[in-house]
Amino acid sequence: MASEPQLAAVPRWTPSPRRRQDDDEADHKGAADMVSVLGASMRGTEGFPFGSGRSFQPPPFLPPAEAEQPSPEISVERSENDCVAFAVARETSSLRPPDQGVVLAWEDLWVSTAGAGGNRRRVPILCGLNGYARPGEVLAIMGPSGCGKSTLLDVLAGRLGSSVRQKGDILINGRRQKLAFGTSIRAIDGKHGDLVSWNAWIELQAYVTQDDVLMNTLTVREAVRYSAQLQLPSGMNAAAKRERAEETLREMGLEGAADTRIGGWAHKGISGGQRRRVSICMEILTRPALLFLDEPTSGLDSAASYHVVSRIARMARREGMTVVAAVHQPSTEVFGLFHGLCLLAYGKTVFFGPAADTNQFFARSGFPCPSLMNPSDHFLRTINKDFDKDIEVGLDGKTMTTSQAIDTLVNSYKSSVHLAKVMHQIEEIRANNEGCQLVKKEKQPTFLTQSWVLTKRSFVNMYRDLGYYWLRFAIYVALCLCVGTIYYDVGQTYGSIQARGSMLMFVAAFLTFMAIGGFPSFVEDMKIFGRERLNGHYGVASFVIANTLSSTPYLALISVVPGAIAYYLTGLQSSGEHFGYFAAVLFTTMMVVEGLMMIVASAVPDFLMGIITGAGVQGVMMLNGGFFRLPNDLPKPVWKYPMYYIAFHKYANQGFYKNEFLGLAFPKNNDQAGAGAVAMITGEEILKDYWQVQLRYSKWVDLAILVGMVVLYRVLFFVIVKLNEKMKPMVRRLRFRNVERHAISSGH
Ligand SMILES: Nc1ncnc2c1ncn2[C@@H]1O[C@H](COP(=O)(O)OP(=O)(O)O)[C@@H](O)[C@H]1O
Ligand SMILES: [Mg+2]
Repeated sequence: MASEPQLAAVPRWTPSPRRRQDDDEADHKGAADMVSVLGASMRGTEGFPFGSGRSFQPPPFLPPAEAEQPSPEISVERSENDCVAFAVARETSSLRPPDQGVVLAWEDLWVSTAGAGGNRRRVPILCGLNGYARPGEVLAIMGPSGCGKSTLLDVLAGRLGSSVRQKGDILINGRRQKLAFGTSIRAIDGKHGDLVSWNAWIELQAYVTQDDVLMNTLTVREAVRYSAQLQLPSGMNAAAKRERAEETLREMGLEGAADTRIGGWAHKGISGGQRRRVSICMEILTRPALLFLDEPTSGLDSAASYHVVSRIARMARREGMTVVAAVHQPSTEVFGLFHGLCLLAYGKTVFFGPAADTNQFFARSGFPCPSLMNPSDHFLRTINKDFDKDIEVGLDGKTMTTSQAIDTLVNSYKSSVHLAKVMHQIEEIRANNEGCQLVKKEKQPTFLTQSWVLTKRSFVNMYRDLGYYWLRFAIYVALCLCVGTIYYDVGQTYGSIQARGSMLMFVAAFLTFMAIGGFPSFVEDMKIFGRERLNGHYGVASFVIANTLSSTPYLALISVVPGAIAYYLTGLQSSGEHFGYFAAVLFTTMMVVEGLMMIVASAVPDFLMGIITGAGVQGVMMLNGGFFRLPNDLPKPVWKYPMYYIAFHKYANQGFYKNEFLGLAFPKNNDQAGAGAVAMITGEEILKDYWQVQLRYSKWVDLAILVGMVVLYRVLFFVIVKLNEKMKPMVRRLRFRNVERHAISSGH
């Protein structure tokens, strides 16, 4: 339905629109002209955005008319909907004054990874790249797959993994980025020592990664609305936030799919292209100062690609956003929307400069674009050597292999005016760093608001995801029916002492053990958390609180209903207080297990590995919890101290036992029937002598210790995530220093 107006715009699709023809005309002006054009473009950037007024001029890569109107053809074609969206967008005020953009520059950027096998030589992924991206513009990174586009985005966003090494400078508004650990040491001087912190950095940027990590149970509209509530500043009222979400949905053409569940591997939901657009939606809600997009148009048809990129470009211009996008196979129209182009081939720069000049550069280097061919297809074909038999034909009719073609282009770029201009521009950016304060996002929603929104979202997710709690609830009911019938009406015989002990142990150990069943769903939550955390949507504490609070009602339900079935069928002490305690311990222990699994999830990336690890850890705790081997018999080193005291089973079990046995008395042995006066054994004696339970403190202390563990495990999770964030950069810095020292000592 919603796609109809978009389709209506397609018939005007032409292989070579006006814009490119203009460029072709420019192509014929000759070399001298080209230099003067570039010079003008450079002059156009003077004072931009570093001038005293720090005001926006039209993006220098674009001809002035283009800056106002992306394409005359398209503006005629623009559908009603489009115009409305545009008008609405114009009415909504920007979150950031437009003169506070981010200029990103990188100089001599190298990224390498350790070679495979015994070979210790490092394999370069990016080789000495230079470039910059400015507010109001879209810089496209293009190249064959595997050429390093995602790596370049990762480096710029400060998200490189610890296995790769980086070298070179990354400048944000002319100041060095602290995350660029590999930055060459010579650059650290008084002037550039002013580093940008991690927190400031993630507050500035938004990154739409190559794969979409979304909450599958939500509808598109819900997902974007929750995201808006989480991210948009506290100064904005609820209606404005909702309107921003709707506006963004419209901009990304998602109105038609707004009420469809996102879906995932289990349930088919929206299409791959729509998922891509939902991911983009969530990151452009705040109109971030710096936006990284990794293949935003993959999975989109050519019309959708055009609309998505054109709207992002328009937004960038309107809001003064700096957009860096790795793009895969753009159509001619999409290509025409880019201001700058960074063309990479196997880690080397083939071209960096105004996108409109690429054609000319290729032609001058001996690879003119055949008429009727999409220029971007031509560029990519010329530099793709994955299928090495490919032979390129140069201007003079000579043939060469693709590797030779790439070398020719790389060398041609190195000696071109384009590189000189880039270097000049970077120098200018570097020189103008003073007085350029980094602008933080406007105040985010308060901690309480974020925790509340996250709790709501998580609650809805848990409700809709059958695997999170409902399946467990059903299995628990079935299991408790089994327990209840096996131990049915256990009575108060001598034999019932053992039966009670076993039944309670089963509940404390196995029912809580089953809490790992929700782990796969939790891992999905963690992935979403990971993405949103890196994009600075909210903090770790909000996530922990939200996850704990939202799971509480489900765990309470699971511990009360199936718990009651097992409890009353077995015929344990029937007073409300006793059952209440039983359910409370069961509930708390499940919370402990969930906390334990959170810690496992923070350490182990994959859910299968996580389940195995979690099961192993719990198995060990179960074993030394004081049932399978009595506490006094446990070997003292390790198993008794400290393991016995660490295992939560000890407290759950002892709490259950105290709850059940205290106040009861049992006949001393099985043949009481014949004797007149039956010798009795009290529950207290059983606890002390038989189960070897510590009676110095009451069952409530056991419960309190379990509650303490619930808190402790969550605090531990918080600390691990925080430490991880802090340590990763430090580890990389250390690794880098070692490598650097090694390189210096070996004379490299
Ligand atoms: N952490 C890493 N370890 C080893 N090799 C890597 C790593 N990251 C990227 N690479 C390699 O670097 C090259 C570029 O990868 P990438 O940036 O993902 O390419 P693309 O341009 O398709 O986004 C690929 O050949 C990839 O195998
Ligand atoms: Mg990639």
